[in-house]
Amino acid sequence: MRAVVTGAAGFIGSHLTQRLISDGHEVVGIDNLSDYYDPRLKKRNLSELVGKGFTLVRADLTQADLSSVLDGTDVVYHLAGQPGVRASWGESFDEYVNANVIATQRLLEEALRVRGIRIVYASSSSVYGDAESYPTNENVLPRPRSPYGVTKLAAEHLCRLYAANFGLETVSLRFFTVYGPRQRPDMAFGRFLQATLEDTEIVVYGSGEQIRDFTYVGDIVDALAAVGSGEVTPGTVYNVSGGGSHSINEVLELIADVTERTPRVRYTDVARGDVSRTKADVTSITTQFGWMPRIGLREGLTRHWEWVLSQAGHPRSRADLPSEELPPHLRT
Ligand code: NAD
Ligand code: UGA
Repeated sequence: MRAVVTGAAGFIGSHLTQRLISDGHEVVGIDNLSDYYDPRLKKRNLSELVGKGFTLVRADLTQADLSSVLDGTDVVYHLAGQPGVRASWGESFDEYVNANVIATQRLLEEALRVRGIRIVYASSSSVYGDAESYPTNENVLPRPRSPYGVTKLAAEHLCRLYAANFGLETVSLRFFTVYGPRQRPDMAFGRFLQATLEDTEIVVYGSGEQIRDFTYVGDIVDALAAVGSGEVTPGTVYNVSGGGSHSINEVLELIADVTERTPRVRYTDVARGDVSRTKADVTSITTQFGWMPRIGLREGLTRHWEWVLSQAGHPRSRADLPSEELPPHLRT
């Protein structure tokens, strides 16, 4: 299979790329190494990809000529985008619209020319906002609470309507708060574990009683692989989550337990755009693909902590790569 992974240098994209390479597929990554967080971390993610059959195209999806990249492609895993709920206000909204909506529309247009191509889109639990019911299934009315969620929902609608109008084989997966090695540095677990390692203060937005259905990154990769190769109905949407329901305060207790350290915690105001609870119903993806989450919170958090410890020799930025250069085997 020839697979294209957009956002291959990112947190989830680099794990998926490694999995596809290991499974023997030909993989082309597209990533612009955006500076939302330190691009050197993304270069490091890429440098950890091992095995044959991977090429990286460093390009911006809003501008690049995608025709030659998509030719002969069986599946595009579309993970590139501007993530982050709390940063999506104000002037940065332009970037969210460009990276999430415009980029997706350009990709879908280009995909129309490629016979038999499938697009698997990385959507988000943020489309639900504070949901009408829990556990939330895919038929609940999406009502995002953040500008980020609006752009993720808009792109999901684009995927659905290209399926409805042109029969393009698109599938959207709504990921619920993903964690594990290489997690983006703006997200909770990575921040909490790094602060615990360094004995610095953890800042919790709100009371810490907000609840998330956290998902280990390996389970996300399994779901992507299953949906990339299984039977699909164009335009469908599936929840993908870890299956738990944990407050941030419970996570902090677990961190104390797993790390055998005492986190220092300060509580501050609720962050704008944050929802109070997520909890997915994953019956649809289980029924259709036999996928189920396998890694519980304690196991996943332990793996994440072990990774943070393994990175401790690369303080803060892990920036041991030359500043502007990609590893030679990845230059295109
Ligand atoms: P990430 O920021 O680590 O990865 C995204 C990658 O996309 C980055 O490497 C970035 O450089 C690249 N990119 C951004 N704009 C681009 C553009 N215009 N052209 C080419 N490349 C571009 O984020 P992540 O956490 O790995 O998330 C991956 C995807 O999954 C995103 O679409 C995000 O919205 C979605 N998602 C993530 C989570 C989560 O908890 N991490 C949950 C739900 C959905
Ligand atoms: C995450 C990702 O950041 C989004 O890209 C993704 O789309 C979304 O999941 C999703 O599931 O759709 P979020 O749930 O906010 O968003 O994930 P975290 O950044 O890990 O935050 C989890 C909770 O911890 C939030 O309530 C947040 O306010 C809180 N938090 C985060 C803190 O209290 N302190 C921090 O330093 C960071």
